Amino acid sequence: MTFDPVHPRMPAGFRWSAATSAFQIEGSRQADGGGRSIWDDFLETPDAIVDGSTADPACDSYRHPGVDVALAAGLGLDRYRFSIPWARVQPDGAGRGNVAALDHYSGFVDRLLDAGVTPFPTLFHWEMPSSVEAAGGWLSRDTVHHFADYAEIVADRLGDRVAHWYTLNEPAMMTLQGYAVGALAPGKQLLFDALPTVHHQLLAHARAAEALRDRGAAQVGLVNNHTWVMPLRDTADDHQAAALYDVLHNRLFSEPLLAGRYPDLEALGLPPMPVQDGDLAAIAGSIDFYGINFYNPTTVTAADPVGPIPFDIVPTPGAPVTGFGPEWPIVPSALRDLLIDLHARHPELPPVIIGENGASFPEPERAGRVEDTARIDYLTGHIAAVAEAIEAGVPVEEYTVWSLLDNWEWADGYTQRFGLVHVDFETGERTPKASYDWYREHIASSRATAAGSEQGR
Ligand code: FCB
Repeated sequence: MTFDPVHPRMPAGFRWSAATSAFQIEGSRQADGGGRSIWDDFLETPDAIVDGSTADPACDSYRHPGVDVALAAGLGLDRYRFSIPWARVQPDGAGRGNVAALDHYSGFVDRLLDAGVTPFPTLFHWEMPSSVEAAGGWLSRDTVHHFADYAEIVADRLGDRVAHWYTLNEPAMMTLQGYAVGALAPGKQLLFDALPTVHHQLLAHARAAEALRDRGAAQVGLVNNHTWVMPLRDTADDHQAAALYDVLHNRLFSEPLLAGRYPDLEALGLPPMPVQDGDLAAIAGSIDFYGINFYNPTTVTAADPVGPIPFDIVPTPGAPVTGFGPEWPIVPSALRDLLIDLHARHPELPPVIIGENGASFPEPERAGRVEDTARIDYLTGHIAAVAEAIEAGVPVEEYTVWSLLDNWEWADGYTQRFGLVHVDFETGERTPKASYDWYREHIASSRATAAGSEQGR
């Protein structure tokens, strides 16, 4: 069979999804007795959000869940990835759970199932209750138990209908952006002292996974943000800087899950992880699938002069860029390369799910049809990269577009639009973009091709 990169042939049963997260779309932040999260606190910090916006009303999705479900179903998605906010379910970070919020998500799950879309919730897309953060957040081992309690409460209510779960979204961004440099909530600037948050998140995931499985979950995993790290120059210093960044962004989070150990931190001059007996075994046995969010590669050079952080992240030479500019270069082959490299490092890789992939581009604010060919090109290139990795033997089973909707992009407020659907944040009006129609047709033709090739066997 020859490989056609424009219409790559995915294996039969390959799943197509799209994603959002609660804080980025819901608005109505304190509705139904919801509590404050670290994001409510962070966005009130002067200058933390580039356009000074808040995440209310965002897409106003909490009040209009049916509209989003109809858009998800209209694409023909297999699964819809959404998140449940911990601070709505446990407003004070403890207790038996807020019934009104649980009712809301129970109703949302029913709507998805009625529309023929499998619900695929994430339990933690960065919304830690403020009280849990005040008690140490991910720096504290106690948070592991609090998170497992929260997972139990959600699974007790939804586990009869939800079989597939993501526990954590991108623990790397929580550690690096949230606790090390402070660009995201909780806005701490601890540099390498942030590293215990890695272990506590992975352990919390493992404990939550046990709770979910005890309540009937069929498939539990987490989703790591991965980047493909490239040294700027072919020098020993730049290779060393790239290797360190690869550990901090990728391998600290992948190796405990996939190999039951941390990279050699001592050799890199990093402090040890707060590992206790049994932790690594619990983490290693904790996933039924390995989630990967991918947006862009990262080019790294040795810092000069060397400061507290011994590397600099620099633009990727020659690469086109997204709405974020040189920070987010577009290099689809990097996704193929990282998938193949991960598989080579971990030949027993469990099924892989691409949990997010997508791009923002400058687009109009007012409602109207957007001909987003740049997004279609981005998605086409990355889906082809996934297909090439599958051809090379990497067990990828699902691909997820970030995002179903334009939404509130964290510290970038409303300035970055990632949606397949345009949202006018003044009126709430949703208008499918050209990429929405393209993805719908892509899903349908991919299914037809896979079904046809099955029959032809
Ligand atoms: C990821 C986040 C997601 C969104 C995209 C653009 O890191 O998981 O919420 O912000 O980036």
